[in-house]
Amino acid sequence: MIEKLLEEFKSRFGSEGDIRCYFAPGRVNLIGEHTDYNGGHVFPCALTMGNYAVARKRDDSIVRWYNMTYPDDGVQEADITKLAPNDNGIWYDYQQGVIWAFEKNGYHVPNGYDMVMAADIPAGSGLSASASIEEVAAVICRDLFNIDMTMVDCALMGQYSENQYNGMNCGIMDQFASAMGKKDNAIFLDTATLKYDYVPLNLKDEKIVITNTKVKHKLAGSAYNDRRRESETALADLQKVVDIKSLGDLDEAGFEKYKEAIKDPVCLKRAHHAVYENQRTIKAVEALKSGDIEAFGKLMNESHVSLRDDYEVSCKELDILAEEAWKLPGVIGSRMTGGGFGGCTVSIVKNDAVEEFKEKVGKAYTERTGLVAEFYIADAADGARRIDV
Ligand code: GLA
Repeated sequence: MIEKLLEEFKSRFGSEGDIRCYFAPGRVNLIGEHTDYNGGHVFPCALTMGNYAVARKRDDSIVRWYNMTYPDDGVQEADITKLAPNDNGIWYDYQQGVIWAFEKNGYHVPNGYDMVMAADIPAGSGLSASASIEEVAAVICRDLFNIDMTMVDCALMGQYSENQYNGMNCGIMDQFASAMGKKDNAIFLDTATLKYDYVPLNLKDEKIVITNTKVKHKLAGSAYNDRRRESETALADLQKVVDIKSLGDLDEAGFEKYKEAIKDPVCLKRAHHAVYENQRTIKAVEALKSGDIEAFGKLMNESHVSLRDDYEVSCKELDILAEEAWKLPGVIGSRMTGGGFGGCTVSIVKNDAVEEFKEKVGKAYTERTGLVAEFYIADAADGARRIDV
């Protein structure tokens, strides 16, 4: 992939000067969904799939960008001193947003750059293709202009830009996973404090299988922001009766004790999910650390049910994939992953059942929806970085 990008870069922008290569991954979240803006825990890992880029700095404030994944967009040109937020959500808006976010937060980007990029991750599939664009932009700026900042800062700039430039009120999970991923590990992140632990995914007998519904329902963005507001309303009600900073501060018993304070029944369901999902995530990581993969899988299944019934961010296609997976004896656990309303499920499947999984789940999915699912085996990988060629 990177050789193709280098070739494209040289033929478009010339082969002279200091041309550098970068990669930032997408992510899959194993458990802890819609908890990252509720002060809860998440447990994602970075993937081997993501966005590659080749870049060279310029002497003026112009950027020229070409994306081989979207050749019809042609070369996009912009002046980095004249960037303004918009919610179009096109690949170059995510790139621009990061430069804008750097400036807003005191990380000065002195010049523009020429860049060619390409993705090997499916866009709109809930695997954080957009966060990987943001993080590739962050590592490019950080590296090309020697900006003194950590990779956690890069994650925060990705989230800041998505919130403030692209109009999507996301939490920190996706950018954090893309920036901070570690090969063979998942990241147990407390989103209230940004404290994190790498947890080895020592799966000898199982594989992590991602199944793509190949649908993305329109309401995803607005429904996401609605869920966030509903959670915040529930929190405000609870704060009248108990001293908490976020829903993640409550465990199940605490929630049951104070839940009557939540006036709206819909907000009550949202908060129920946020609290219980956070506790499930803590328990799931404990189970994994103690080698109890069956317990981990059971918690994944419960997570799906809660996302479907209480948080209401699943959809018919995701439910069908999960249901079909649950029928198979070689499946340890299966759930929707990411924001929902389409995208992917994540399943833990016994090594010797993976082929059967693909065949049976794929067939049933097509029979029930008329669509063809796609399957990827997930390998936990390193985070965003400059790469040597
Ligand atoms: C999207 C957001 C994340 C997170 C998930 C749901 O991926 O970008 O911040 O909220 O949805 O867990």
